[in-house]
Amino acid sequence: MPLIFGKELPIAKLGGFMSKKETVLVTGGAGYIGSHTVKQLLGKNYEVVVLDSLVSGHEEFVLTEHFVEGDIGNRELLDETFRKYEPEAVMHFAAHCRVGESVRDPAKYYENNVVKGLTLLNAARDSGIDKFIFSSSAAIYGDPEKVPIKEDAPKEPENPYGQTKLAFERILEDYTGAYPVSACSLRYFNAAGTDPEGELGEIHDPETHLIPVVLEAAAGERDYIEIFGTDYDTPDGTAIRDFIHVNDLARAHVAALDALRGESENYLAYNLGTGQGHSVKEVIETCKEVTEIDIPVREGERRPGDPPKLVADPQKGFQGLNWKPEITDLTPIVETSWNWIKKRYGIN
Ligand code: NAD
Ligand code: UFG
Repeated sequence: MPLIFGKELPIAKLGGFMSKKETVLVTGGAGYIGSHTVKQLLGKNYEVVVLDSLVSGHEEFVLTEHFVEGDIGNRELLDETFRKYEPEAVMHFAAHCRVGESVRDPAKYYENNVVKGLTLLNAARDSGIDKFIFSSSAAIYGDPEKVPIKEDAPKEPENPYGQTKLAFERILEDYTGAYPVSACSLRYFNAAGTDPEGELGEIHDPETHLIPVVLEAAAGERDYIEIFGTDYDTPDGTAIRDFIHVNDLARAHVAALDALRGESENYLAYNLGTGQGHSVKEVIETCKEVTEIDIPVREGERRPGDPPKLVADPQKGFQGLNWKPEITDLTPIVETSWNWIKKRYGIN
């Protein structure tokens, strides 16, 4: 490898020309959405560095050879990592992300998602990194007045998790107004599905997300799936969500990096969803069709803090990111998850 200013630089051979590979630092790249994004970045010929403490991640999901095991709150480690790899951009996935836990233990969430996130942002800025892409959430909207939800809808998070995501978005917006940095907040709706090649999957411990929970019941890993509330003001009485395939989220990150390179605006924020809503009962029916298993279902009480309906209006992202979800039906999303669950639990 050639040495430029005393540093080894990775070189890619593209179309007959030798050019330096761009490097992206991915925090939380051992987690569910981060690892799928790392795979997309590697496929686009980026050099990728993962920084992850493995607090909820999995080393087997780290697909890059450049893995720094450590905490985003460790300023010394951050400075050393930025010096060593000189990334063009940071994609920041690392966070705690269980809504119920954030209500019981808000300190844990403000500390990790805001305080440590700020340490990361300051270290990146001090190292001269001027592009920052942040995993935000539909949780910043709380219980929306209007659905589908546009980016300028009122932001009234109903739990500490959503508050931490909104707080960090505001920090980013202020930083981009004052310093020579640009940032993009990607507000995911319900991330779902897994790598169609079966290399990566979804493991949250405990798992609380609807699709894997239903499929774990199909796999016999749970006795039944409990529907949290059947008395919502929706056509079948169950809550409605916008499920977006994790690979479509991953592709949006690559698109956001391109957008930050070209944009005159310094702060961008986009809702990432398909724009289609599916009820909890519809999801369970789709899982029954895909698995061909009569999954045991119980009807229970509403889960505190769950809005009845969260569906994105994704039009702004379609334009601004020049991106669209490739998977818009629930069935192929569930199929990828089912393949993963079968692999994980050794089912034929
Ligand atoms: P995940 O738990 O699978 O991944 C999070 C990763 O961050 C893990 O690998 C964990 O080890 C790492 N991490 C956490 N704190 C860290 C720290 N202090 N230092 C270093 N590493 C740390 O979660 P996920 O579902 O992949 O979510 C990724 C991001 O997307 C999170 O920011 C989450 O809030 C956001 N998000 C997720 C969803 C969803 O439906 N899963 C929806 C909206 C937003
Ligand atoms: N649900 C059940 N039974 C279960 C699990 C979930 O009925 O066993 C219901 C929930 O009550 C909710 C829907 O299925 O109505 C979806 O629940 P998830 O837990 O899968 O997802 P949420 O919509 O609660 O939350 C997800 C992410 C959050 C993010 C939020 C909005 O987990 O990080 O979407 O983006 F903030």
